[in-house]
Amino acid sequence: MNRSVFSCQQCGHQCPKWLGRCPECGGWGTLVEEAVSRDKEAARSTHREPARPLTQVTMGTAVRRRTGIGELDRVLGGGLVRGSVVLIGGDPGIGKSTLALQAAVELAGTGCRVLYVAGEESPEQIRMRADRLSPPPLEARADVRGEPWIVAETGLEPLVAVIADIKPEVLVVDSIQTLASTDLGSAPGSVGQVREVAARLVTIAKTQGISVFLIGHVTKEGFLAGPRVLEHVVDTVLYFEGDRSHAYRILRAAKNRFGSTNEIGVFEMREHGLVGVPNPSEVFLAERPALAPGSAVVATIEGTRPILVEVQALVTPATFGTPRRTTLGLDSNRAALLAAVLEKKMGLRLVERDLFLNVVGGVRVDEPAADLAVVTAIASSYLDRPLPGDLLTMGEVGLTGEVRAIARADMRVREAANLGFRRAVLPAANAQRMKSEAGIAVIGVRTLEDLWAAAFGTEVGAPEK
Ligand code: TYD
Ligand code: MG
Repeated sequence: MNRSVFSCQQCGHQCPKWLGRCPECGGWGTLVEEAVSRDKEAARSTHREPARPLTQVTMGTAVRRRTGIGELDRVLGGGLVRGSVVLIGGDPGIGKSTLALQAAVELAGTGCRVLYVAGEESPEQIRMRADRLSPPPLEARADVRGEPWIVAETGLEPLVAVIADIKPEVLVVDSIQTLASTDLGSAPGSVGQVREVAARLVTIAKTQGISVFLIGHVTKEGFLAGPRVLEHVVDTVLYFEGDRSHAYRILRAAKNRFGSTNEIGVFEMREHGLVGVPNPSEVFLAERPALAPGSAVVATIEGTRPILVEVQALVTPATFGTPRRTTLGLDSNRAALLAAVLEKKMGLRLVERDLFLNVVGGVRVDEPAADLAVVTAIASSYLDRPLPGDLLTMGEVGLTGEVRAIARADMRVREAANLGFRRAVLPAANAQRMKSEAGIAVIGVRTLEDLWAAAFGTEVGAPEK
């Protein structure tokens, strides 16, 4: 007889009996009965891994295959590892299917056997998308040695049969939430199903040496029955992020058993699919207005790459009531803190002003090194004084108005120099240790007063507008 278990649809916690409220996450009415299949229980009790001395563990080198999508390969750690399972999570409409299909077409084009499992769209829709992605049509391309196989399947058991039939080297499952096993009574997309399907596919990947891409939606409520319950089952978790109204997408590794989680891939969503952006700084700064107050540039480190981004601030008189504080692409608490420091230390009367902050291009910057650019942009808008166009500012700002050192300053300054910046305002601690870089002057600052002098050429308390 199959035993049943109650799984929370919110956090995945399991209880032997039904409860009105999940003891783990506190969600009400989130526990749903699910069957525990017998072979899984049996596998749990009999599987034994023999212990051995550490030096007797041999390190088989991971066999990697390039997907042909450079930015994806970079984030994977140099390519797709044989037998590995990669989860690609992200908001609906962000471009997960597009990325997976592009990779499938490229891989198949090199002669690799690829099976694409379509649960979200019909094979016709996918054909249409593929034609759009790779004009001229696949049939007409001489460099193409093969094409992906496609199957519209939502049942796990029939899919296992198709896999046995096709014997793919790479499997794409779009999406994990549409597949279901008949062993379980619960609906497709429930925590139990998603877990079961993933576990079975992981076993198939490992035993047959198939590399698997699992696509998972992140729902509005968060990670409901989605990527989060799978993070520990799969080898690699990639998140596809970005603002749907912007063209840029960032692919980030949240976990990677076969590479670092520091790398990011930058893509632009174009008419013909996703195109890798090898030099993101140029793109993010392309439309920067010349000498406009409220604009400052910072070199932020994304993974191992420095990327230059523009921070914009708009300070306007507050019309009535509580002044507005709106931030996009920056942590709003951090922004509020920096505004308070400016108020107290530099005498900016921000309580009477609305403050809007934005990182251009739909990028998110989460490191304190951006503080100085945020502060500079706010001050520039407030004073209505533009910054020199060839100047960039970076550094962490403390509560007493001190400017604190940041990591990897050399790398950031080099990228700025490459892009034509001539002056870099840095924390004094960094500036002292800095090797001189051709074509760019480094200006060390200890306090916000120093920053004022470097950025606006004025003393504190400059006449207010
Ligand atoms: P999609 O890959 O379907 O997103 P997901 O699988 O993450 O839900 O792509 C979503 C959007 O991308 C869709 O709104 C249309 C747009 N798009 C383009 O702009 N150009 C293209 O070539 C393709 C295929 C899609
Ligand atoms: Mg999709």
